[in-house]
Amino acid sequence: MDRIDILQRIAEALNARRYLEIGVSKGETFFPLRIARKVAVDPSPRLSWRKRLRKCFTNPRNFFNTYHFLTSDDFFARVPPPSGGFDLVFIDGLHTYEQALRDTLNALKVLKPGGVIALHDCNPPHGPAALPAASYEAAAAAKAPGWTGEWCGDVWKAIVHLRAGETALEVAVLDCDYGVGLVRRGATQAPLKLDIAGLKTWDYAKLAAGRRELLNLKPPAYLEEWLRVLKKIN
Ligand SMILES: C[S@@+](CC[C@H](N)C(=O)[O-])C[C@H]1O[C@@H](n2cnc3c(N)ncnc32)[C@H](O)[C@@H]1O
Repeated sequence: MDRIDILQRIAEALNARRYLEIGVSKGETFFPLRIARKVAVDPSPRLSWRKRLRKCFTNPRNFFNTYHFLTSDDFFARVPPPSGGFDLVFIDGLHTYEQALRDTLNALKVLKPGGVIALHDCNPPHGPAALPAASYEAAAAAKAPGWTGEWCGDVWKAIVHLRAGETALEVAVLDCDYGVGLVRRGATQAPLKLDIAGLKTWDYAKLAAGRRELLNLKPPAYLEEWLRVLKKIN
């Protein structure tokens, strides 16, 4: 199972009509999704107009897409949300703790009641993939021993923060495709009792020692259970 399967299953469970993706790049996730109205946000996407047009013929929903070539911060500050909000938001922009957290908190403000936020790259497979850096290029340039070209950054800390924070959220991470985080409003499941003040300085060893608890890491099959509850709420 990958992020595209997961997002499509959630969209179907929610009967989603409005989807927002932060960080779209080449549109590998964005274009295949079968959702009526999709909004793409990326300051430097790899999407020519030719490609955008071509994708309309492989998936006609893409005729109705909207593109914002902006950072997520600019998007949330400048672009009014659709009336009623988004059903589903996918966060896959800048892979830093602070940005992923800010994107999630901003997404909560434009999320429909009962809506879902998903985050990519929440479960880095090894230390070099979890390197905190301001961009992929900066992470690669660090030439960390064991670097494989995979980069999740420290998005995982945003998950820990949300699990230990005060906002009542249900947060879990599916153990597939570099960790797909699922967030919805509700009572926090097994909330983490820890002081998040020093979280920024935590290193990968902390995650490796306790990832199941820190991330509320679940096998991919847990999605079925999660969707059952989602359908009951909506
Ligand atoms: C990993 S790629 C996205 C991949 C895509 N979601 C997919 O599933 O195929 C990350 C993207 O985030 C974009 N990005 C970087 N900083 C950003 C920001 N502040 N706001 C929004 N997008 C950002 C980059 O330009 C890049 O295209």
